[in-house]
Amino acid sequence: MSVDAFDAEAGTINVVAPEFTLRPHATMLEMVERCPVARIQYTDWPVLSRYEDVAWALRHPEIFSSDLGELLALGNVRPMIPQQIDPPLQTRYRKILDSQFTKKAVNRIEPALREHARNLIAAVLDAGECEFDSAFAIPLPCKAFLEFMGLPVEEMDHFLALKNGVIRPDAHPADLARCTELRAETGRQIYAYFEDLIDQRTRAPREDLMTYLVQVELEGRRLSREEILDICYLFLLGGLDTVTATLGCNIAYLAENAEQRRRISQDSGCVEAVVEELLRWQTPVTLLPRVLKQPVDLRGVHMAAGQVVNLMISAADLDAAEFPRAGEVDFDRDRNRHLAFGLGPHRCLGSHLARLEVRVGLEEWHRLIPDYAIKPGEIPRVSPGIREFQYLPLVWPGVA
Ligand code: HEM
Repeated sequence: MSVDAFDAEAGTINVVAPEFTLRPHATMLEMVERCPVARIQYTDWPVLSRYEDVAWALRHPEIFSSDLGELLALGNVRPMIPQQIDPPLQTRYRKILDSQFTKKAVNRIEPALREHARNLIAAVLDAGECEFDSAFAIPLPCKAFLEFMGLPVEEMDHFLALKNGVIRPDAHPADLARCTELRAETGRQIYAYFEDLIDQRTRAPREDLMTYLVQVELEGRRLSREEILDICYLFLLGGLDTVTATLGCNIAYLAENAEQRRRISQDSGCVEAVVEELLRWQTPVTLLPRVLKQPVDLRGVHMAAGQVVNLMISAADLDAAEFPRAGEVDFDRDRNRHLAFGLGPHRCLGSHLARLEVRVGLEEWHRLIPDYAIKPGEIPRVSPGIREFQYLPLVWPGVA
């Protein structure tokens, strides 16, 4: 079914086709093999899908720049820090941010995270069914992230509306003009919110990440108001979307693969490997955009300077040249250098936090609900770009 999204003759891929977002694997495996430099329908941007090419591009920001300017309008009026800035400046920002996202720093939230997971599961357990995105995948990581950052958890719906207004504006993804308009509108609200919060934390510091940003020194000076805004803008998008998407992708896969699912309940020690292999298999952030600083000729395709290029990390993670039996999910893989968190200077800042949230989510879910399935007769709905299972109805036996 999914092969329809890819036109091998024209070398074009429709990344927003519902059949592709729901079941992309056959299409991506075909792209990697037959068309390593395809083009995205609607934008006509080249898309690289081989592991070797994508990894090379990610390691060479001097050629594949993240400074997309107006080319990728996400409602922001300046580049988001550090994602849309190239080294060496990006590296300087990472130095002050990395210290807040170490394993040790994020592990502090584990007990509260676990308790929250148990409460969310307890709320649906007896019903014998739930819509997984709204019941678990959204509230679990979003509450954790808001607390981590020092934002009011009771305003979660407002933050989610702001994040969705940028990542999934309420218009057809191919209607770029309308999407840009909606993103700009939301962007203004995000800036206004954080302007106010910077004032609050300057007046009354707390023990939180917002206060850290207000007080931290970068090479002997405080961050400017604009720099803090540009970091917060990115954190809101990075922290509130990707883990939700990952949890949904994982549970959707496990719901259909009972034998592999049972391993989680029988051997909780395997969950770390499960998280990594499902990150490879589902790679929920599918495309990373870059703009060429110089012309590039790759696999017989010429790409001009100034051209936007998409790096399809989700396809690269299925490349048999890097992953033996790439088309199979294998929790016992020896080496798993997946690209789900990117690679090179922009590698995900929040990867330790993300891994913790996904691991705890899977452990707690399977402890209380080890057996579940997608509700018969229902078809899940998945968003493009960042693959969130926005509608994932589940049922489990023995209660309802
Ligand atoms: C499973 C969940 C997550 C996935 C799959 C994911 C994926 C990614 C990827 C692929 C990149 C590289 C982007 C690029 O090269 O252009 C990235 C960067 C980033 N991520 Fe994550 N992410 C996740 C969770 C988080 C969380 C929880 C945060 C918390 C704030 C976060 C913050 C960031 C930031 C700030 C960057 C930019 C780093 C830089 O440019 O130096 N991410 N993420």
